[in-house]
Amino acid sequence: MVAHAPGPGRHRLLFRRVNLLFRLLSRLRRELDAWETRRLLALCRSCGQRVVLERPYSIYSPEQLTLGDDVIINAFCQIFAGAGVTIGDGTLISSHCAISSVTHPLQHPARKGVLYSPDPAESLHRPVVLGRNVWLGMGVIVLPGVTVGDHAVLGAGAVVTADVPARAVVTGVPARVQRLLEIPASSSL
Ligand SMILES: CC(C)(COP(=O)(O)OP(=O)(O)OC[C@H]1O[C@@H](n2cnc3c(N)ncnc32)[C@H](O)[C@@H]1OP(=O)(O)O)[C@@H](O)C(=O)NCCC(=O)NCCS
Repeated sequence: MVAHAPGPGRHRLLFRRVNLLFRLLSRLRRELDAWETRRLLALCRSCGQRVVLERPYSIYSPEQLTLGDDVIINAFCQIFAGAGVTIGDGTLISSHCAISSVTHPLQHPARKGVLYSPDPAESLHRPVVLGRNVWLGMGVIVLPGVTVGDHAVLGAGAVVTADVPARAVVTGVPARVQRLLEIPASSSL
């Protein structure tokens, strides 16, 4: 007996079923992603209201991460929170930023094997604090031990190696203060 090729009606049916399957899989994927993000935020030392954390992200030691209300962290950010990272209310972190409270000894024998070590004696851990309503432009790097004052703006690509005063706009590598913003002291979120 000769097998007949499926007619156009069967092709349409097959196409609709495959399409439906893909839609279901992509919905499942979105729900799993959202669940994973909620789970991660629940592991944080504390997490405020209305926090947005866009995927993909890499958050190490979330139990040392404190997030205020209305914090937005855009995609492709990395946070190494081992020694404590605090992000204040209303702070906006653009994509591709890295914040680290962890560093390592410069000399190889001392550094060997301490990558990701949670032991403060082995790594040089120093907390990072970002104040309220801070904005990190794209690709900012904040190094261990830095405190950034409220309303500061860290320009795209800045490498922040030292404390930043409140309301300062900083740019460059290493970041330098360009000017101070005039923001009323009463300004809130
Ligand atoms: C830092 C920033 C906020 C400054 O904005 P601004 O005050 O309007 O600055 P201007 O565009 O007037 O530039 C002022 C000077 O700073 C320089 N500059 C601006 N941004 C800079 C940056 N990120 N790094 C180094 N220099 C910068 C400009 O070249 C200019 O230099 P010049 O006076 O020698 O010509 C802005 O440039 C920036 O980096 N924005 C981030 C954008 C971003 O990441 N968006 C993501 C979407 S959430």
